[in-house]
Amino acid sequence: MFQRFRRTRLNPILQRLVKETHVSVDDFIYPLFVRPGESIKTEVASMPGVYQMSIDEILKECEELKKLGIYAIILFGIPEVKDSVGSDALCEHGIIASSVKAIKQAHPDMFVVTDLCFCEYTDHGHCGIIDDNTVLNDETLEISAAQAIVHAKAGADMIAPSGMMDGIIETLREALDEGGYENLPIMSYSTKFASGYYGPFRDVAESTPSFGDRSSYQMDPANRREAIAESVEDELQGADILMVKPALAYLDIVRDIRENTTKPLAVYNVSGEYAMLKHAQAAGLIDYERVMMETMIAFKRAGADIIISYHAKEVAKLLKS
Ligand code: PBG
Ligand code: ZN
Repeated sequence: MFQRFRRTRLNPILQRLVKETHVSVDDFIYPLFVRPGESIKTEVASMPGVYQMSIDEILKECEELKKLGIYAIILFGIPEVKDSVGSDALCEHGIIASSVKAIKQAHPDMFVVTDLCFCEYTDHGHCGIIDDNTVLNDETLEISAAQAIVHAKAGADMIAPSGMMDGIIETLREALDEGGYENLPIMSYSTKFASGYYGPFRDVAESTPSFGDRSSYQMDPANRREAIAESVEDELQGADILMVKPALAYLDIVRDIRENTTKPLAVYNVSGEYAMLKHAQAAGLIDYERVMMETMIAFKRAGADIIISYHAKEVAKLLKS
């Protein structure tokens, strides 16, 4: 006697009844890149469909996102001026603070997540204060707390620290609580690997390190036990949502972390992953929409609750049709 698995695949209604994993527009956070100026909407060559936008254009974009049913965005800033400590990120009139204020005023129903890091704001492109060859952990914690307060005051709905400094969650939680922001959630980039898949992002965010790489603070892709420990530690420090980044090459880690925590888990479907599909589509190599949806299902199946993705608008359009 053998099992007839094909029995439940024949009727499309039954096929939907037995479907184990679902993708919904509610699962997505859409990344946006904001820069100073007016009427700026510049497409990034390495990421077709992704733009650097000025605040006025971002406000129009939010309108479009809401029509598609996307209400959550994560903001990255490209400042007018970069310096050694990333001052723009600490300024209440900096690019992120100004953007959050403008968005929340025009679109109070948008959920605005702010990426909290320094690499886009420093002239050396590293994720904090540097000494000769690496980022100084504890000094960077101090200015990170200051940055969190700037985001909170501007009206951010959730703070997402992405710099992989040890102790960042405890530091931010304490700073936010002391500032009266005890209800402001933190989504930690808790397990973030030093990855070549970030290449195109660094073109958009203009954040390529001027020397060295990030392997002294981001994780070694070879390490599974450490990957679990990083996320568990951030949960203990008070993170509300955990994250694995990149997504596609790390689905085993997504599953591992899913099984080691009860916290909500996000994946960051990063720039290089997006670019691979986009350029494969342009070369006529794949059925783009099919491969994109297959990829999104894989994230959910691996255990992700939330998907941060440049594909979010295209997914939303497909789910509507
Ligand atoms: C900043 C940051 C990076 C990404 C998100 N936040 C880049 C990096 O660590 O170099 C990558 C996003 C992507 O590749 O889409 N720390
Ligand atoms: Zn960074």
